[in-house]
Amino acid sequence: MSATAAASKLLSRRVTCNSHGQESSYFLGWLEYERNPYHPLSNPSGIIQMGLAENQLSLDLLETWLADHPESTDFKKAADEAASSSLFRDLALFQDYHGLPAFKQALADYMSELRGNRVSFDPKKLVLTAGATSANEILAFCLADPGDAFLIPTPYYPGFDRDLKWRTGANIVPIHCSSSNGFRITRHALEQAYKDAVLKRKLRVKGVLVTNPSNPLGTTMTPDELRTLADFIEDKKSLHLICDEIYYGTNFLSPASFISIKQVVDGRPRLSDRVHIVCSLSKDLGLPGFRVGAIYSDNELVVAAATKMSSFGLVSSQTQHLLSAMLGDRDFTRSYTAENKRRLRERQRQMIEGLGNTGIECLESNAGLFCWVDMRHLLAKTGCFEAEMELWKKIVYDVGLNISPGSSCHCSEPGWFRLCFANMTEATLDLAMHRLRNFVERDEAIRRSQRRPLGPATIARWVRRLSSKRRPLMQLSR
Ligand SMILES: Cc1ncc(COP(=O)(O)O)c(C=O)c1O
Repeated sequence: MSATAAASKLLSRRVTCNSHGQESSYFLGWLEYERNPYHPLSNPSGIIQMGLAENQLSLDLLETWLADHPESTDFKKAADEAASSSLFRDLALFQDYHGLPAFKQALADYMSELRGNRVSFDPKKLVLTAGATSANEILAFCLADPGDAFLIPTPYYPGFDRDLKWRTGANIVPIHCSSSNGFRITRHALEQAYKDAVLKRKLRVKGVLVTNPSNPLGTTMTPDELRTLADFIEDKKSLHLICDEIYYGTNFLSPASFISIKQVVDGRPRLSDRVHIVCSLSKDLGLPGFRVGAIYSDNELVVAAATKMSSFGLVSSQTQHLLSAMLGDRDFTRSYTAENKRRLRERQRQMIEGLGNTGIECLESNAGLFCWVDMRHLLAKTGCFEAEMELWKKIVYDVGLNISPGSSCHCSEPGWFRLCFANMTEATLDLAMHRLRNFVERDEAIRRSQRRPLGPATIARWVRRLSSKRRPLMQLSR
């Protein structure tokens, strides 16, 4: 037994079990990046981080606001006109877990504004959490007992394995979605996942979790999809629906048809007790380091339980204080959101164009900080998940790009990868696309040299196969 294995025997089963997902290629890629990070001057041949869904495109807007509002971080001033104590003293002393009322009001208003003020949020139904990570785990704790299951459409954000399963002991059962319809959720796929959980795995299903807009797809759910989902939850009577809407403000193509689950629920009061929304400022405002998230629910019991649980991951008082001023400045939030979306749209275009020049397509997307990229044609002949890992390793080690393989997102089809575009400069993205292009051209030259001349029978077989199996080009963009 190795020294590490022996030492870990002294720890709890919970922390040493492997449901955390840390061994996933998603996190391994980050480690590789950290060992050899690209820097234009000090390490120009290093690995470019394309596996991190971080929004660095609009930090300058936040910095300008801070420079224009020094009072928001001036903790020495008096807490109020009549007070003898300073704001610092107020913030430094105990805050209860209900959060600062001014911040909850500002956050609720900001959430409505992002959704075009078509819905409103009541601050009393908000629970503040240390990011969406904590919000999702708290909901899993509140809704499921160890051994119970949540259904999640694939491909999904790899962090959900950690957030929903690791400490709670809950399970995730995949709702298998396919590229044949652009990975949309169907009633058939929902029923199939439910049957897999209940009949095959003998699990009690407590809910469905969806991310809208989707990480890793970068797409928003259609009203039809949301209706299908709501019907399923309503029909199954005891199921909950967790809607992770942390990318809501990144919907940069703003289709009028993009709606929040809140709009669906407002029209279906019978569902309202079983639908819970997760939001955060990590993506929309690009502040993952501030650790600000929230749960919104009409269910009073869930709000009360989640509030108690939030003690383990509160948002610090000075963060709430600063952000209540920033989010309360409606002119700023409106112009920030519009400009941020414009920058994201430009970046997505740059990536699609770069990939297109290399003959690589991606799923047509309208939101998020990444593209869902189709590299099936670059897999070795077998086209299996081993081939996907082989290609991934080449891209990380030889090309110097850390991208996330579809298998780390539990995609059912090998050959898809998530590539992030908002955590680097325009020049770095250009370099990444250039590296990828060189790799693909080299790879194609090798394949060509290995190919034997084709006989007429093989050519005829190919033509027949191509005409019967056309890919859904409508859903792919270049
Ligand atoms: C879908 C989804 N949910 C939750 C999270 C965690 O976000 P936070 O930084 O707010 O904890 C992420 C982070 O990438 C995510 O993509």
